Amino acid sequence: MQVLIAPSAAAVGRFAAGRIADVVRRRPDAVLGLATGSSPLDIYADLARQVAAGELDLSAVRAFALDEYIGLPPGHPQSYHEVIDREVVRPTGMDPAKVRVPNGFAEDLEAACEEFERELAEVGPVDVQILGVGTNGHIGFNEPMSSFASRTRVKRLTPATRQANARFFDSIDQVPELCLTQGIGTVMEAEELLLVAQGAAKAEAVARMVEGPVSSSCPASVLQFHPSATVIVDGPAASRLE
Ligand code: F6R
Repeated sequence: MQVLIAPSAAAVGRFAAGRIADVVRRRPDAVLGLATGSSPLDIYADLARQVAAGELDLSAVRAFALDEYIGLPPGHPQSYHEVIDREVVRPTGMDPAKVRVPNGFAEDLEAACEEFERELAEVGPVDVQILGVGTNGHIGFNEPMSSFASRTRVKRLTPATRQANARFFDSIDQVPELCLTQGIGTVMEAEELLLVAQGAAKAEAVARMVEGPVSSSCPASVLQFHPSATVIVDGPAASRLE
């Protein structure tokens, strides 16, 4: 695992976007793995800047999102389908037909998970998977004690994760209790993992991920086993590293 400490939160996004842009310049139809939440927003903003400047073309890229809430109506502004469209696809000129988000609106959620895994297997492997980390060490919505062998499935969000994500809703009661998420086994099949974290609130999770024992009590610690994992953090997020 490579750990890069960037001089600022914005620089975390620029460094990570630079790595992704390099991959896409080498392979214009690269397969990207997309995370939602606040951590990757600077990455998407920097990719959009490069596209607007004519330095990068993401129109042939294929992409798979990590997760989706269950129980929000289609079109809800906080559904990850909408968030990915608003924050990633439209600003960066990706082709919406080439972007998949797990279908949290499906009547048969198990079938939706199988379908997502099938498409990923056909199109993948993912060249670069973008990740954030929860304060409890989750990646995707693989909460502590998730199996390292897990595949895309329904999961229950912990109260801590619902509380953390309540900032995107009017109240915590509106944060769904269930989600679909790629499994840890699914995520680990990507060729390269790029995890970004900013701010002191992530310092403990970053230390457990990078220096702690590899344990499902901190799902992100599994990155220590990946042959090509890079963690890019700012100073406050790195502050608990030895
Ligand atoms: C979301 C996801 C989550 C977030 C994590 C951190 O797609 O995969 O694992 O990356 O909850 O969220 P933020 O970045 O909002 O602190």
